[in-house]
Amino acid sequence: MMEIKKVGVLGCGLMGSGIAQVCAMAGFDVTALEIEQKFIDKGFAGIRKSLGRFAEKGALKEPADNIFARLKGTTRKEDLADCDIVIEAIIENLDEKRKMYASLDPIVKPAAIFASNTSSISITETMTATKRPDRFVGLHFFNPVPLMKLVEVVRTIVTADDVYETVYEFGKKLGKVPVRTSDKTGFVVNRLLVPYLLDAVRAYEEGVGSIGDIDVAMKLGCGYPMGPFTLLDFVGLDTTYYITNVMFDEFKERRFASPPLLKRMVMAGWYGKKNGKGFYDWSNPEQPVPQDAALRGFAKE
Ligand code: CAA
Repeated sequence: MMEIKKVGVLGCGLMGSGIAQVCAMAGFDVTALEIEQKFIDKGFAGIRKSLGRFAEKGALKEPADNIFARLKGTTRKEDLADCDIVIEAIIENLDEKRKMYASLDPIVKPAAIFASNTSSISITETMTATKRPDRFVGLHFFNPVPLMKLVEVVRTIVTADDVYETVYEFGKKLGKVPVRTSDKTGFVVNRLLVPYLLDAVRAYEEGVGSIGDIDVAMKLGCGYPMGPFTLLDFVGLDTTYYITNVMFDEFKERRFASPPLLKRMVMAGWYGKKNGKGFYDWSNPEQPVPQDAALRGFAKE
């Protein structure tokens, strides 16, 4: 197995910054690539805040400043040349991902492993943009990355065994629990989670209960940390809608098809917590207000 010392992270948004943070917390040197410095500043500010929360609880093994010192931000691809693994967390768009990897392939050392944090885009279709498809895997983290213990390690039909095992062990070194899966759309978690979330929207459309009551029911009845509508707002309605379309395209099954209400909300620009409105109004994040009144006409009385 190969030794990983230096990690490159592509994209410093919600997922990318979380991935950079857990890598630095685990002792790796991290270089995060963004297209503009302002995105690095924003991502790193989030990392500082999160490290502060861990520090307050005494949950860090070393001062937050030491962890932060292992993180570098850059807008130059050349700065990733000597990384041992490069983890991509840019926009969920196949062309963008292929373009990014095609441009990095001649720059990053040939022995390095490429990994994608995609939740729904085919690893197989992305890896063919490079000359190292055997050194290409999926490494799927969950939001919020610093707290969620799981990472899905995704192999394709050409992934080399030593590459796969190196990444599996790397997942453990990050303090995560890795699970083995393969490049079938949705992997394990979204394959099961997405139909559940879509069913919650269908149940709401059919008048089974209000947004708040369905959330309380699943939270308290099943011991889930969040009800389905809170989780939808948390993941992002646009993101969920995108994933459902990719999954429906793959499997052509109704359980992966977006209910009309979800589509209407996305078309109207209601993306959930990130832009203030989804199944709840998040103007006051401490007290989200269910939007049943605004969504009347879509749910049976
Ligand atoms: N960094 C550090 N600490 C953080 C943090 C962060 N980013 N976010 C929250 N915390 C801390 C809080 O300070 C709090 O600390 P204390 O216990 O000391 O007070 C603790 O974590 C718990 O946070 P909250 O009290 O705010 O809320 P919570 O108890 O509900 O936990 C949660 C938050 C972990 C997000 C929990 O609600 C949860 O597990 N929700 C489900 C999330 C989920 O399902 N994610 C997967 C989505 S699917 C996906 O990501 C993949 C995809 O492909 C779409």
